[in-house]
Amino acid sequence: SASPELDLDSILAFTIKLALDAGEMIRDGQQKRFASESASEDEKVNSVDLVTEVDKAVEEFITKKIKETYPDHQFIGEETFKGQKITDEPTWIGDPIDGTTNFIHGFPMVATSIGLAVKGVPVVGVVYNPFLDQLYSAAEGRGAYLNQKTKLPITGKAKPLASLGQALIAVEYGSSRSPPALPSKVKTFQTLAAHPDQGGKMVHSLRSVGSAAINIALVASGGLDMYWEVGCWAWDVCAGTCILREAGGVLFGPKGSSLSGEVDGDLLTGRKYLSVRGIASTADETTLQVQQRFAREFYDTTD
Ligand code: IPD
Ligand code: CA
Ligand code: CA
Ligand code: CA
Repeated sequence: SASPELDLDSILAFTIKLALDAGEMIRDGQQKRFASESASEDEKVNSVDLVTEVDKAVEEFITKKIKETYPDHQFIGEETFKGQKITDEPTWIGDPIDGTTNFIHGFPMVATSIGLAVKGVPVVGVVYNPFLDQLYSAAEGRGAYLNQKTKLPITGKAKPLASLGQALIAVEYGSSRSPPALPSKVKTFQTLAAHPDQGGKMVHSLRSVGSAAINIALVASGGLDMYWEVGCWAWDVCAGTCILREAGGVLFGPKGSSLSGEVDGDLLTGRKYLSVRGIASTADETTLQVQQRFAREFYDTTD
């Protein structure tokens, strides 16, 4: 265990309450924005990298509660990030609104994502979508749950896929739209979807959900089989990584390299990964071998 000295059960209960409260702020905040004639948003790096006053208010709320309750812990959040490094200390890593573009448009795939990492390992993670009222939560060694009652992956979704062609895969366009990043991603999307006669994998379909945290949580639940992202930050994936791991999913790095799922070395700086669900299909292939096979087949399609 990465955190023998921490009471993970009470930390998990605290985090769930915090995420539910943050979710209420997000719902109320959206209602106010939609009722107002003058709601606006600011551009960060470019015109598709947006932030609203609700993102900032929710982050302030989350930070305040964490500082009150765990004054010795560190905090890193998207809207107040100043280049801090993740140390071995207990570090909360949160994204107040993951899916800001969806939030602004009213597309209901939006989550607050709150994780706690110790020695770089996410040991508690909560992802809450206040519009669908779906709460994904996990703590080290305790499994992952949907709405605190359904253990993940969802039963009946624990069936093996025979090949990558049967997979439902989430991909994202991200906010960096200049070459070479975007054209190379789009080429991968096309190869995944295309017919084998055209050299494609003909996967069941691709989805672009617009929230990294929800994508990972959906891989954990079985709603998605894979999720590929280039360009995430620790706050996008810290909570989700814990949920995915507790549900038996794994992460792979660039080109299918192994990824330990630590939020410093891998996720804050690496920023490229593939999360994979996978179920052992035969007695002689383990779940990990199935996941590795899918990762290899997936990375076949990337440059
Ligand atoms: C973004 C979303 C998006 C993903 C980006 C993230 P934000 O987070 O998760 O799906 O593709 O990489 O930055 O800006 O909405 O918090
Ligand atoms: Ca953002
Ligand atoms: Ca995010
Ligand atoms: Ca965000």
